Amino acid sequence: MLPLVPCEHNVVWLTDKIGDKSNKLLLSLPETNHHSKVVSDGTALVPIPQSLTQQEHIMTSMLEGKIAIVTGAARGLGQMFSRELASAGAVVVAIDRNNCSETIGKIEQDDNRAIFYQTDVADHKSLQDMTQKVTRDFGRIDILVNNAALYANLTSAPFDQLTEEEWDDCMRVNVKGVWNACRAVVPAMRKSGGGTIINMSSLAATYGLPFALHYTASKAAVIGITRGLARELGRHWIRVNAIAPSAVATEGTREFFGDKFEHATEVIRATQSLRRTLEPSDVVGQVLYLASDASRFVTGQTLMVDGGTTLL
Ligand SMILES: NC(=O)c1ccc[n+]([C@@H]2O[C@H](COP(=O)([O-])OP(=O)(O)OC[C@H]3O[C@@H](n4cnc5c(N)ncnc54)[C@H](O)[C@@H]3O)[C@@H](O)[C@H]2O)c1
Repeated sequence: MLPLVPCEHNVVWLTDKIGDKSNKLLLSLPETNHHSKVVSDGTALVPIPQSLTQQEHIMTSMLEGKIAIVTGAARGLGQMFSRELASAGAVVVAIDRNNCSETIGKIEQDDNRAIFYQTDVADHKSLQDMTQKVTRDFGRIDILVNNAALYANLTSAPFDQLTEEEWDDCMRVNVKGVWNACRAVVPAMRKSGGGTIINMSSLAATYGLPFALHYTASKAAVIGITRGLARELGRHWIRVNAIAPSAVATEGTREFFGDKFEHATEVIRATQSLRRTLEPSDVVGQVLYLASDASRFVTGQTLMVDGGTTLL
């Protein structure tokens, strides 16, 4: 039987030893969730597996009760972010124009919670409908990860050989898609007193990726959106930050570089202080940090996850 720790005012004291508050950590807790129950006098009882270390307590509960939307969640980084946010306690709303059954399956296998909405981020109306359903079912939205983007299938070509059609598609998804998701979700965040938005930019924007000017421009726009929106939304306690990784070993990167993948990653590694190729799991820490109160006074920033290529 798991030990139960009494809590007051939706606050849980996690302790090394049950009953010993000498080493306590304060985490906010929803009134009810699958890890807690509220007894008749209003006291919340939280089961804590005794085998977990204090560090694991933090990681598995840091986002307890939070509702997190992740766009582009069907695969790659979006899938990994969804899984890790759910492991940290959030209920994940996985958004993609493609089916997210693999992502949802993995999250459920981990015994965590997620739902899927098939939505195109270029379509503002469908994002608004999704937001309405989420707020109706869960009452709030705390975290938005703007991860969906056109990347894998984009043409790599000299700037004057890119087609107008592909340029426009890239802007519609990578730039307007971020704006769309923000304007759909921010009213719910404002209403509940705050939130955190995490936008996926790229080293392409800060370093200047040649032969993909549409992608590079779109990811630079994401940094602009992040800065402008951070200043605009700070008064509502909504934080807006970006993450800019270098090439991560995802399916998307393999598709983008094709048979030049090995050469491209070798060239990228040579610019890094830490000389190995980024793995998706290398980016998870920044997402959890920006999603949580650990970054509560950080906004408008772009965190480079590039093994020390860009030194700010
Ligand atoms: N992989 C990298 O090397 C790398 C590096 C820097 C930044 N990024 C950024 O990280 C994010 C994820 O990268 P990834 O490698 O996992 O990409 P990916 O191409 O593997 O995945 C992108 C996901 O977005 C979805 N998507 C695309 N258009 C959509 C739309 N209109 N509406 C809804 N969903 C849509 C796709 O279906 C897919 O599931 C992207 O924003 C990318 O620009 C990636």
